Parts: sequence; structure tokens; C-alpha cells
Amino acid sequence: MHTVIVNGSPRGEHGNSQIIINKFSEGYSINGDTYQQFCISEKKDWEQIKASIEKSKNTIVVFPLYAELLPGTLLEFFDYLCHTKLSPENTMSFILHSGNLVAGMRGCCSEYLKQLTKHLNCSFGGVLIRGNSFFYSNIDPKRTDELVEPYAEMGKYFSENKSFFGNAVIEFAGPTEVKASDARVINRICKILMTEFAEKANCKFPLDYKPYDVE
Ligand SMILES: Cc1cc2nc3c(=O)[nH]c(=O)nc-3n(C[C@H](O)[C@H](O)[C@H](O)COP(=O)(O)O)c2cc1C
Repeated sequence: MHTVIVNGSPRGEHGNSQIIINKFSEGYSINGDTYQQFCISEKKDWEQIKASIEKSKNTIVVFPLYAELLPGTLLEFFDYLCHTKLSPENTMSFILHSGNLVAGMRGCCSEYLKQLTKHLNCSFGGVLIRGNSFFYSNIDPKRTDELVEPYAEMGKYFSENKSFFGNAVIEFAGPTEVKASDARVINRICKILMTEFAEKANCKFPLDYKPYDVE
């Protein structure tokens, strides 16, 4: 099997999506399956990406959640793909990851992606979802490797199943809700981190300042 893997992050090869793709492709290629990888951050490559997607039976688009949505550049890329000659012989699958432990747009984003494949006139190959990708590129590489290791298993899964459907995919997503007690701890940590970022950025106003609240 041959697959076109598209990195849908504006951060391209320097971001966490690339770390996921590297690990996923390790498992995917274990039985000799081949792939070609592109980054949509390289606009000059869009024509080539489009041509490769048209020729390939399988495409996987890997992208992070930005503001609970697809990144703007990726939406622009999908607009560009509207002029592609795809058919139900072409299957498009997705890997959606998010910074938060719980991947925010779980159900909703999957439905959007399903509709998108209909719009592009290709088949829908399902969505692999997982949270907690925020720190992949900022922590000790050994720890990152441990965190992304499960993606290798899903690469193997894709090479065997050619799509992301089934119990293994549901289980891979992990917890779907944050417990109230965990949420309180996470909020506290976020507040400390954001305060530190704000101080470093020379912020002059408190984090909860609401300029739109003035009488
Ligand atoms: C502009 C921006 C918006 C983000 N919005 C969300 C979000 O709404 N929910 C979430 O869970 N993570 C969010 N994140 C975190 C990213 O999903 C996460 O860091 C991801 O690993 C980034 O992948 P990348 O490095 O390949 O771009 C956001 C990150 C950025 C830079």
C-alpha cells in the first residue's frame, strides 16, 4: 500500500504534528508499505500535494487543534483541494491531535471531516484522535518518545486496516472528559504558566483584565 501523508500544521516540520508523523510512519512502514510526506506550510508544494493526493488511494491529513478548530492554513488548503479530481476510490483519513489532555472537538470535528470528504468527492477513512501533544517539542526527547510511542502501533493498525475505524481507534483517544478535580489543578498550572509568559512578554495588565467591560 502507498499513502500520502500531509502535515496540516502551519508549523510544518518544526511542530508536534511532525513528531507524530515520524512515529506513526515507523509502525506504518514495518511491513514494507510506502508513503510520501508533505507539509502544507510549504505553499510552493501545494500543486504537487494535490497531484499526489489525486493519484493515491490513501491520504492521511495530520493536524493540530487550533482554537478548537482546524488551523486556518489547512482550511485554505482544503479550499484549494475543491478543484481536485478525486473519486470514491481515493480515501482520506485524518489524525487530529490537541494540546489539551482531552481532545476538544472530539465528536464535532469528526462530523465536519466526514462532510468535508463528501464535499471533496472522496471516501472517508475515519479520524484518529488524541490529546496531550502540547509539550512534545519542549520536553526531554526520551519522554516525548514515550508519549508518542502509541502512534507507532496505530501506524501498524492503519497499514493493516487502511482506515481509522474500530475499537482500537476509540480506545486510542483515551479519556473523553476531565474530572472536575483535575480541571482545577490544570487551571491552576495554566494560570502559573500564563502569568510567567505574560511577565516575560512584559505584559502591563493582569490576565483577567477585560478592556471590553468598561462602563
Ligand atoms: C494558535 C494555537 C491555538 C491552539 N488552540 C488549541 C485548542 O483550542 N485546543 C487544544 O487542545 N490545543 C490548542 N493548541 C495546542 C496545539 O493543538 C498543540 O500545541 C499541538 O501540538 C500543535 O501542533 P503543531 O506543533 O504541529 O502545530 C493551540 C496551539 C496554537 C499555537
